[in-house]
Amino acid sequence: MQDALNQIHAAALTALTAVKTLDALESLRVQYFGRNGQLTTVMKGMGKLSKAERPVVGKLANQIRAELNEAFERTAQELQRQQQLQQLADESVDITLPGRKPAYGKAHPVMQSLERITSIFTQMGFQIATGPEVETDYYNFDALNTPSDHPARDLHDTFYLTDGHLLRTHTSPVQIRAMEQQPPPVRIIVPGKAYRVDYDVSHTPMFHQVEGLLVDTHVTFSELKGILTSFARQLFGADTQMRFRPHFFPFTEPSAEVDISCTVCGGEGCRSCGGTGWIEILGAGAVDPEVFHAVGYEPEQVTGFAFGMGVERIANLQFRIPDIRTFYENDLRFLRQF
Ligand code: PHE
Repeated sequence: MQDALNQIHAAALTALTAVKTLDALESLRVQYFGRNGQLTTVMKGMGKLSKAERPVVGKLANQIRAELNEAFERTAQELQRQQQLQQLADESVDITLPGRKPAYGKAHPVMQSLERITSIFTQMGFQIATGPEVETDYYNFDALNTPSDHPARDLHDTFYLTDGHLLRTHTSPVQIRAMEQQPPPVRIIVPGKAYRVDYDVSHTPMFHQVEGLLVDTHVTFSELKGILTSFARQLFGADTQMRFRPHFFPFTEPSAEVDISCTVCGGEGCRSCGGTGWIEILGAGAVDPEVFHAVGYEPEQVTGFAFGMGVERIANLQFRIPDIRTFYENDLRFLRQF
């Protein structure tokens, strides 16, 4: 029996050196220590030994079992360590590989123009005001001296909603809302969306405007000219020339359309300006007394001026886009250029 034990001992130690995985180690453990394992079987047979033999063999058996246990434990630890090293090697990061650049978002070109325009006016002391895009006839037209039979309504191809509201056709209704909410003086700039039934190279159904309104006791037309000239020169360069052409808006009197010298040819005349040397950028005028009546201001006590410009048009001049519809086609190849 002692021989059998010694053989098992030697065979187990040899087998252990060949074990390569924790799974193989476990089956080896079962093979020796399991319920029908070799060592277990031998030890079960000890009952048949004589009284004299039993303590000697028992001692040897216990010693061998302890040694083998320890050898199994050592092997298990070594295999675990190797497994961890392997895992670390498999998962290692090659820090010399170039990184993946995150795709940074940028402001849309129209927003870039809108923010630039707004910041020029806020630096001149105008405060930002906003209003709803879903408007009533009253704010979009009537209060702006444009009653329903007024021919100027035809010029605005209005989106009407089924509940009688409409999508504002310009940012001018915010003039009315701002004046209703505060007594003069008023000095606001209104960036926002407007909507018209229109779609061609220079029109999209949704577009952006920036409205300006200044009302105080002694506001003159020359201040309007001064402020707009300063604005245009900051935006398009110090050499920019301005031209005010008489025009008509129901809510301003007198009214003007304002041109700047062509940003492409500088005024010589080219294809961009249709050979005239001038490009229209905004509408403006002195606030009509009827508008003051509508908001409860005294036309005898206050004067003011207002102006409104299309942001896509200005972005167009800044970035030289032949067709403004491309602003809204969401083609990344186009948008990434700004
Ligand atoms: N609301 C006018 C338009 O959309 C522009 C404008 C604003 C003209 C303010 C005069 C004064 O065409």
